[in-house]
Amino acid sequence: MKKGLFITIEGMDGSGKTTQINMIRDYISEKGYNVMLAREPGGTKISEKIRDIILDPANGAMAAITEVLLYASARAQLVAEVIKPAVESGSVVVCDRFIDSSFAYQGFGRGIDIKTIADVNRAAIDGMMPDLTFFIDMSPEIALKRRMASSEADRIEKEHMEFHMKAYNGYKELARLYPERIKTIDGNRTVEEISQEIRKWLDTVV
Ligand code: TMP
Repeated sequence: MKKGLFITIEGMDGSGKTTQINMIRDYISEKGYNVMLAREPGGTKISEKIRDIILDPANGAMAAITEVLLYASARAQLVAEVIKPAVESGSVVVCDRFIDSSFAYQGFGRGIDIKTIADVNRAAIDGMMPDLTFFIDMSPEIALKRRMASSEADRIEKEHMEFHMKAYNGYKELARLYPERIKTIDGNRTVEEISQEIRKWLDTVV
């Protein structure tokens, strides 16, 4: 039985997700909820090991379907170990990336059939679809430049701009298809302006 709340945040690397996640945590905590943060791929000992395999630039030979299955495996473990128990015990879980990342990057980006991704992930998420998703809308040209300024690129970040552009357009398509769940937040504004809009949406659920 579900009692808590599951919120995810999506967008390109470098779009400012981490800053906003921390602000979401503070805001919801102030309202008296127990908040737990998670990130994908990763968030458990096993998922972090899978993350290392996925993002290792040495694994350039990885087949696209292997990538789908590895992300789904990391996700399955995070759901089973962290997300599901926390939400069922009444906590608010805020996750940096989730199933929409697989639709955007592996589906729209790599061209893997969306239905295949949905089928695999249905097993992985075990009913835990996000209640609310924020898509921080910032183009990959701008976001990745910011991202690269801070540290070295992983295997996905090293992909050419065309791939990132397809993933970005994929997010926009997902937001168009699921407007009730996915809220598009213009990321080309100040941290405070973005946070203010996110808080407005949070007020509708907590
Ligand atoms: P990050 O932890 O720096 O966000 O890196 C995760 C990378 O993995 C990021 O470039 C997006 C990518 N990704 C996918 O391609 N599919 C997925 O399902 C997830 C969760 C992430």
